[in-house]
Amino acid sequence: SPSTSSSTTDVKKPIIVIVIGMAGSGKTTLMHRLVAHCHETGKRGYVVNLDPAVTNLPYGANIDIRDTVKYKNVMKEYGLGPNGGILTSLNLFATKFDEVVGLVEKRAPEVDYVLVDTPGQIEIFTWSASGAIITEAFASTFPTVVTYVVDTPRSTSPVTFMSNMLYACGILYKTRLPLMLAFNKTDVTQHEFAVEWMEDFEKFQDAVECDKSYNANLSRSLCLVLDEFYQNLHNVGVSAVTGAGIENFFQTVDSCGKEYMENY
Ligand code: GTP
Repeated sequence: SPSTSSSTTDVKKPIIVIVIGMAGSGKTTLMHRLVAHCHETGKRGYVVNLDPAVTNLPYGANIDIRDTVKYKNVMKEYGLGPNGGILTSLNLFATKFDEVVGLVEKRAPEVDYVLVDTPGQIEIFTWSASGAIITEAFASTFPTVVTYVVDTPRSTSPVTFMSNMLYACGILYKTRLPLMLAFNKTDVTQHEFAVEWMEDFEKFQDAVECDKSYNANLSRSLCLVLDEFYQNLHNVGVSAVTGAGIENFFQTVDSCGKEYMENY
């Protein structure tokens, strides 16, 4: 039975999986799929929603920022627009985040994965003090992995791919946590092209340089930066809609969890 599967070897803490992605990358659909997969396979998942503005969460959350912070009230009270409202809500929640970590710690013996959904506007989490505080609070207590969801069909142009990878590189640099790219929507576009570009520096450089509008020297330098970045990276192709690749997703999370234990 699933409940006995983790009773062996060392203290098995849950692995925290922080899911980050550009708006429209399919983050919410992927979260839904991950939660469902846990239910179906006996992996014990615990869900944290950090998006104060989501109106319709298609899966149940164990901890939901919306229970603590009312984003619409925050907007009114502080005279803010939607993004300021979300950011301030996250800031307010971050001040109490030790309580959240405490709740997760209490449940730790019976949890395998803590799935953390972040605000739809990625920069609210990746470029805010509260995003860093929340990430740090998790990472100082549990093995923590960051998943960056990529919209694969929208990343087939080399220059778009490059910008997306540079963004992911920034996340790795800021968090210093194991990072996995989840190439989503593989039911529409397979992610082989991306794997090829990541494995073969010259193929990618040739592809980028076909775009004449791009500064060749800059693009060569950026390709070199990314080549280094890929060495530190895990990647997996998934379809949040069909469920393809989800088993592999969790195997990759486990590898990242091991990497965390070895390096952090
Ligand atoms: P925000 O809600 O803006 O944060 O977007 P999100 O990143 O959470 O994306 P969401 O899950 O809402 O998905 C965006 C769109 O992509 C929706 O129309 C989804 O149906 C679609 N989508 C998500 N995952 C997949 C997938 O694996 N395959 C296909 N074909 N479509 C997908």
